[in-house]
Amino acid sequence: MCDTGHAHDHGAFGFLVDTPEVRTLIDEARRQMDGFADYPDRVEALKSAFAQLLASDGWLPDDFAMPDSASRMGGGIGQYALYRAEDGSLCLFSLVVPAGASTPVHDHLAWGVVGVYRGEQRETVYRRLDDGSDETRAELEISREQSLRPGDLYALIPPTDDIHYVKTVSDTASISIHLLANDTACVWRHKFDPDSGIVTPFRSGYANAPCVE
Ligand SMILES: [Fe+2]
Repeated sequence: MCDTGHAHDHGAFGFLVDTPEVRTLIDEARRQMDGFADYPDRVEALKSAFAQLLASDGWLPDDFAMPDSASRMGGGIGQYALYRAEDGSLCLFSLVVPAGASTPVHDHLAWGVVGVYRGEQRETVYRRLDDGSDETRAELEISREQSLRPGDLYALIPPTDDIHYVKTVSDTASISIHLLANDTACVWRHKFDPDSGIVTPFRSGYANAPCVE
């Protein structure tokens, strides 16, 4: 632990939270990325290691489990890098969504696995009806909604399961853990307004680590 206890004093890449639980999941993710070419197979093979992390206590420091008043997502939502590959091939982060707050509707542009660690979330997934050729507009309709409690997992697999938002429905903030095959918070991705169809470039940023230009 650093002298001040602030998460941002740690390095920008590698294990920003260096515990056996986090290392075990990242090692397993690397193994499955080498072992399976298809994203759904990787996700399936990773589920048990991910479930173990969600079932473990004491590995997520308080600095990575608090709202962020300076959030670029709004609503006090905190996004904290736990692990970042320097080559942008993999990251693990925590997402802290205060009670009643929602993320924007957004995409991820990479496959991944998400699990709820604390609190409860409602996830709303959208399907895209247009062909995606216009960068500034999208026609979306809701394809699925699900309630998620601690230990529940879901996959993000572009292009069909990549656009969603989550809302905290518990009385306390929810914390979800996200493993994705990019450097999610530093990638320029998209925010969607399903009512107007407007698409906006979006880079959420980590609260505890800078994006390299
Ligand atoms: Fe997301």
